[in-house]
Amino acid sequence: MRPSRAKKMRLRNTSSNWGTIAKAFHWLIALLIITNLGLGYWAEGLAVSPTKVEAFYWHKSIGLTVLWLALLRLLWRFTNPSPRLPSDMSGWERALAHTSHVLLYVLMIAMPLSGWVIHSAANFPLDLYGVFPVPDIIPASADESAVGDLAKAAHYWMFITICGLLALHVLGALKHHIVNRDTVLRRMLPFSRASDPIRGE
Ligand code: HEM
Ligand code: HEM
Repeated sequence: MRPSRAKKMRLRNTSSNWGTIAKAFHWLIALLIITNLGLGYWAEGLAVSPTKVEAFYWHKSIGLTVLWLALLRLLWRFTNPSPRLPSDMSGWERALAHTSHVLLYVLMIAMPLSGWVIHSAANFPLDLYGVFPVPDIIPASADESAVGDLAKAAHYWMFITICGLLALHVLGALKHHIVNRDTVLRRMLPFSRASDPIRGE
């Protein structure tokens, strides 16, 4: 039996809904970033020990996974239409949503990159998940401690910024759902499709 039109799983986005691939990218990356924020913050406070080394091994592997997934996500983003925002949103709300999403994309890439620079400056070997050797991304001639210190400061300030942006992002999603009662949150949830009042999809 053919699945009904409403229940059919769609891989690509439409003008009213996120497809399965965009949702999978969103929630997988969200989970990995939130895990890594907690892991990095906790590991940073540990005394030098095998536990700290192990925690950073996982932190770096997860962080570099975020980098590759974010690049694939952006590729998918630019080759798909995005669902429209509700028509009752004001100009400043649209601008805020757009700017915060762009910043989240920038941080998804810049956080792992700055971490990779800290790692390279520390001259410490790393195999991603114990399998793939990770090359250094700063030239051997660079002043390692100066570049490393700069990257540490950048990594730290991006950590603070992404926490603020995430709080805004989640509050925004909840406001759409509870106050505006529109489909913005529902259409990003797994296994959920929002019907489009305009096209009646
Ligand atoms: C680290 C965690 C997260 C990151 C990095 C993140 C990032 C993003 C980005 C970049 C977009 C824009 C998608 C695009 O236009 O291409 C987006 C959309 C969205 N996010 Fe998140 N997100 C995170 C966590 C969450 C959480 C916890 C919620 C739930 C409350 C949420 C709810 C949404 C919703 C509802 C949308 C769709 C907005 C729309 O339809 O225009 N996100 N997210
Ligand atoms: C999703 C990506 C990432 C997130 C959310 C993240 C988050 C964090 C957080 C919250 C801290 C503790 C606060 C700080 O000192 O900045 C931290 C520290 C650190 N992270 Fe990451 N990180 C990510 C990716 C990476 C990657 C890919 C690497 C290396 C390949 C890395 C290497 C480090 C190192 C070496 C530190 C300790 C910095 C220091 O000693 O000051 N991180 N990270």
